[in-house]
Amino acid sequence: MITILGIESSCDDTSAAVIRDGVILSNIVAGQLVHEKYGGVVPELASRAHQQNIIPVVHDALKQAGITKEELSAVAFTRGPGLLGSLLVGTSFAKGFSSALDIPMIEVNHLQAHVLAHFIKENVEDTNQPPFPFLCLLVSGGNSQIILVKSYFDMKIIGQTIDDAAGEAFDKCAKVMGLGYPGGPIVDQLANAGNPNRFKFSKPNIAGYDYSFSGLKTSFLYFLRDGLKNGPDFVEKNKEDLCASLQKTIVDVLMNKLLQATKDLKIKEVTIAGGVSANSGLRDAFVEYSQKYGWKIHIPKFAYTTDNAAMVAITGYYKYLDGEFCGKDIAPFARVSI
Ligand code: KG4
Repeated sequence: MITILGIESSCDDTSAAVIRDGVILSNIVAGQLVHEKYGGVVPELASRAHQQNIIPVVHDALKQAGITKEELSAVAFTRGPGLLGSLLVGTSFAKGFSSALDIPMIEVNHLQAHVLAHFIKENVEDTNQPPFPFLCLLVSGGNSQIILVKSYFDMKIIGQTIDDAAGEAFDKCAKVMGLGYPGGPIVDQLANAGNPNRFKFSKPNIAGYDYSFSGLKTSFLYFLRDGLKNGPDFVEKNKEDLCASLQKTIVDVLMNKLLQATKDLKIKEVTIAGGVSANSGLRDAFVEYSQKYGWKIHIPKFAYTTDNAAMVAITGYYKYLDGEFCGKDIAPFARVSI
């Protein structure tokens, strides 16, 4: 029996999870409301909140899993990418914990973990995992990538954003509309009541499978500026249609490149990961494309889309099987590729 404790502290969520032989036993996430009034994550405040949260979160994860810490086989932690101060909290905790219990430590790449979230089993009978090879659209606040996944640790980025990520496009456009932070979920909610075909925004024209979202952000900003000339309540009066049209544009851009990749590589197993994969427009598009193009799609549970330690624990589990442990001299990385 292999029991892994996962620790995630790369940004503003402190999370701990326990996975036993690939099956989830617990996944506790403590968010940080302290950033809301700043309209974005404040790194120093995030590190401090992680310090406060980490012990209770780990305690709760063990309790909910119904195990003692002595039953753990190893502790897996996010090494990067992320905010350095935040990563240091999880890394230092993992070092102390593994030393005290005399169990191995496993470093986890946060982006790989998002992809491997698809392998978390809800119970021993759960066989809903994607077969290799598959394509994964990884879309979050910091990344927009199309990844070719050949095996658990053989992943290749075949396309990525050359500037802003899809989540950033949602968040920044929400900010100029005066909506809260993070803007993605708010845009999603308002879009449900709006007309996605009312407004047209320019789409990027980038070669290959790469993305670009900074032009959309600028065109959205100019569009609002022109609209406001017709009256100061332009945004308020049209926010549902603005959100629906913006969401449709982002989803179309993401899906067009993904479709091209599936055709070129002749791969029909398609998955989605990262915070933006919680978006209902994107999820609907996945279902629509699966019907239209015969894709076999895998959409993770909401709890495994945004930052969570379950994905860290499952990655740790597969590394444990490969005997891939790290030393106590390990340091976190703010920037690292998949
Ligand atoms: O993966 P994640 O939790 O954090 C990292 O970036 O690592 O992703 C956060 C991003 C934010 O930009 C947030 O606005 C976006 O995911 N997001 C959404 C939705 N839920 C979260 N964007 C659009 N629609 C959503 N429902």
